[in-house]
Amino acid sequence: MDKTRLMVVGILVFATLSLSGHPSQRGSAGDAASPDPAAVERARKTVRMLDDVYKSAIVLITDKYVHSKDDYPAGRIAVRWFDGISKKGWHEVRLIDATGEPYSPTNVAKDEFDKEGLKILKSGKDFHDKVVVEDGKPYLRAITPVPVVMDKCVLCHAHYKQAKKGEPIGALTYKVLIE
Ligand code: HEC
Repeated sequence: MDKTRLMVVGILVFATLSLSGHPSQRGSAGDAASPDPAAVERARKTVRMLDDVYKSAIVLITDKYVHSKDDYPAGRIAVRWFDGISKKGWHEVRLIDATGEPYSPTNVAKDEFDKEGLKILKSGKDFHDKVVVEDGKPYLRAITPVPVVMDKCVLCHAHYKQAKKGEPIGALTYKVLIE
């Protein structure tokens, strides 16, 4: 083999080796059960961002459009909106009750993570999360509180009057792929 050929072969072997390395060696999400901490942190940041975007929209809609019990509630928009997002596969998000008296019986904690998460939020924490593996993929489950942010909320949820200031009456629960 002449020198040029040798060089080309060398470059090809190097390129193949560096591209075919194990994903964890290339600094991506690592293996499912123990994902790269930096990837978990990115998922956590995504949840924090989504949480702020969703809650700001719900509060704005309630502030500007909901004036009486007959208006279309932001909570109902949220349920449909989140259902669409989850079905499209972006991530999963649900609005659930924390009082034991949901307006709609389907808006409730659906598994152990949600139930445990509601208890933790009620004890005063503003965020709880856990890494889980489903179908061989790592996900971040996370849950954040929904307090009675406006007086208007009691127009339709009369029992929120009994809630202490800052106490969560609901929660947003998420499942985001760690990647
Ligand atoms: C105009 C009436 C109305 C107002 C005002 C309203 N909601 Fe709701 N809310 C609803 C309805 C109806 C649902 C059920 C939505 C569904 O499942 O389609 C709901 C659902 C919810 C849920 C999910 C659990 C459940 O009870 O089904 C939470 C949490 C919630 N609302 C919080 C709030 C908060 C906080 C406010 C104030 C910012 C508020 N709501 C204002 C009517 C209202």
